[in-house]
Amino acid sequence: MKVKEKVLFLLEEKKGEYATAESIAHSLGVTQLAVKKAVDILRGEGYGIYTEASKGYALFPGNDARLADSIEKNLLFAADKVKMFVYDTLPSTNTEAKRRALEGAQEGVVVAALAQTEGRGRHGRSFFSPPDSGIYMSAVLRPYLPLQNALLITTAAAVASAEAIEEVCKRKTNIKWVNDVYIDRKKVCGILTEASVSAENGNLDYAVLGIGINVFEPKSGFPPELKDVASGILGSESGNVKSRLAAAVLDKFFTYYENLTQKKYLEAYRSRLLFVGEKVRILRGLSEREAEILGIDDNFSLLVRFQDNSVEALDSGEISVVFSSK
Ligand code: BTN
Repeated sequence: MKVKEKVLFLLEEKKGEYATAESIAHSLGVTQLAVKKAVDILRGEGYGIYTEASKGYALFPGNDARLADSIEKNLLFAADKVKMFVYDTLPSTNTEAKRRALEGAQEGVVVAALAQTEGRGRHGRSFFSPPDSGIYMSAVLRPYLPLQNALLITTAAAVASAEAIEEVCKRKTNIKWVNDVYIDRKKVCGILTEASVSAENGNLDYAVLGIGINVFEPKSGFPPELKDVASGILGSESGNVKSRLAAAVLDKFFTYYENLTQKKYLEAYRSRLLFVGEKVRILRGLSEREAEILGIDDNFSLLVRFQDNSVEALDSGEISVVFSSK
């Protein structure tokens, strides 16, 4: 283990209390200068470490360096691309990742939390993120893509999450257009991609990909408005599952992301599409029409047949689809 990792773990064990450079150096059997250098490196990597001349160093109390380390150790393909920061609680990992992106964080910085107090969903909704239930994480991306291709990030993340859940948790998943992952017709994972566009060339300046997975049923259950539509994936903890799942999602996502415009995950998405052949209501502005879902086209637009037999490809930006069952 490198000196910086040893320093990080030692500060982590103290849970926000100060430790002098002298005591750290003594317990690790290194010089005080080595401790100072390790702290500088850790700060450069984004860890919040407080310093007070007389008291020494303390790690920001909400930091969970061990879980970050465990996720990183489970990474395969994305091992060189991802730098994890894990917190016990954050208002929203998307907000924190955006803050870091604006400060210049590089692609692959991933901020995760075990609970969010202001978790955000699509269309201005909130995302229920209680402690002891899920894993909530947001990746900073800097793709060279026009804004209209941002949907590829979201759909690739939906497939990556679905495949990772199947592999790690051994549960069969579906995808509800456009980016919710379902098990047994209940939502277990939501995705929110937020992007900033460069005024210069119309390409994405950065994007933040946020993924929230309900790994376990929350201890006090889902609130009444969610209990019929949301679910946890597993009943109880089984061998470090959050770390393995988070790592598998990131590995799979970054594999697809490497050649995003080739859409290699299109068939994997299509084969999991939920509600094919079922009737839905299409809301566009004030108008509402009933239609049958046929599938998706190669641009991830939803193909529907209206009652007059006309077929249309619907873009996710312009309409809402109300699924009759959930
Ligand atoms: C949705 O279902 O509408 C999207 C939910 C996205 C939730 C994730 S959890 C991690 C990240 N941080 C947030 O505040 N939101 C996303």
